[in-house]
Amino acid sequence: MTGSHTSFPDGFLWGVATAAHQVEGGNVNSDGWLLEHVPGTIFAEPSGDAIDHYHRYREDIALIASLGFTTYRFSLEWARIEPEEGRFSAAALDHYRRVLEACREHGLATVVTYHHFTSPRWLLAAGGWEDPRTPERFARYCDKATAHLGDLIDVACTLNEPNLAWLLREIGIGGEPPEGRAGVPFLAAAAGRLGIAADRIAPFQFTSSEPAFEVKLASHRAGRAAIKARRPELPVGWTLANSDIQAGEGGTDRADRVRREVNERFLEASREDDFVGIQTYGRHVFGPDGLAPLPEGAVTNQMGEDIYPQGLEATIREASRVAGVPVLVTENGLATEDDAERLAYLETAVSGVASCLADGIDVRGYIAWTAFDNFEWIFGFRPKFGLIAVNRETQARTPKPSAHWLGGVARTNGALPALEGQPA
Ligand code: BGC
Repeated sequence: MTGSHTSFPDGFLWGVATAAHQVEGGNVNSDGWLLEHVPGTIFAEPSGDAIDHYHRYREDIALIASLGFTTYRFSLEWARIEPEEGRFSAAALDHYRRVLEACREHGLATVVTYHHFTSPRWLLAAGGWEDPRTPERFARYCDKATAHLGDLIDVACTLNEPNLAWLLREIGIGGEPPEGRAGVPFLAAAAGRLGIAADRIAPFQFTSSEPAFEVKLASHRAGRAAIKARRPELPVGWTLANSDIQAGEGGTDRADRVRREVNERFLEASREDDFVGIQTYGRHVFGPDGLAPLPEGAVTNQMGEDIYPQGLEATIREASRVAGVPVLVTENGLATEDDAERLAYLETAVSGVASCLADGIDVRGYIAWTAFDNFEWIFGFRPKFGLIAVNRETQARTPKPSAHWLGGVARTNGALPALEGQPA
């Protein structure tokens, strides 16, 4: 595809995203850090210093803006802001205020996620994401954070991917096994460190029980109310892991069930929100008994899944149809060492957004995952989702061609530069 689109509305948000634990480094008071260090951990390596964004945020934000982006999505780290229950750190809040001010200085709109997977250790010790008191704890944190930072936030996201744990369970990666979390050695070990019974450990990413559904939903609603009480006009939503769920041969019933459980019920729960954040990486094709095998010769990403940028258009349409609220693409990207592959992926994905807009769907922005190569959770630093490479010895940042390309798209609000070798 070459030439330009005229279909991107004024003020469309073009951005890149990060999440605190994946980039900041030294998040020692979080459950993530604990889970990375217990015996038998399933994390390939610990997050360590990550890419030291906690100290390098000024240069990082300047770089993002210089590439042409108009928006930066990042997350606040609850474990830093409330290191012990009820004890809030003014220094941590001031840090995030400086991050937001740096965005302002560079003209970047701010999309702020209040919870991106990691939680304070004390929250887990107190029952985590299955405990009925968690919604009020989350709301209290949202209240403090919004009181301190709200005037510099343009878009607020409460929880990141509350539905991911259900998707992981369906695709058999790191999810909750049918026999329960107590039987998972690293979770049991973490429970031991926290001084709780093994069956009470409920980290956000690994908990897909029905009580967890209720607690996550109630937390989102209580958090939204707390943010709105401080800043009624601030758009608030949550961000969902929206895979394009497809049926392979004989897989219609299974795919329908998974789509309902993982996507639709969360989208239905978004109907009262100001927008829904959509985070799509590709598709999952189901046969009658589970994931269908990949077609012979399928080109895969570094996560071993087929490369399917068309999924984004499908999930935007699904989200708009089911939730009936504006859609913001809060993550979309590809794990690959081959940046040309990423660039082609982004081009198809952005084109899918344009086609949704052309059909009158209310899409407010496109935020790519991720600004920098970073800590990809259980997979460690190996997968490369970044538009900007990072040398972790020197922490030097180097934008890849895809960063220049998407930054150019941002600068021209969707007048897509031609790919190399194609006529403009
Ligand atoms: C998450 C990110 C993650 C990305 C790529 C999403 O599930 O929000 O934290 O790095 O996908 O796997």
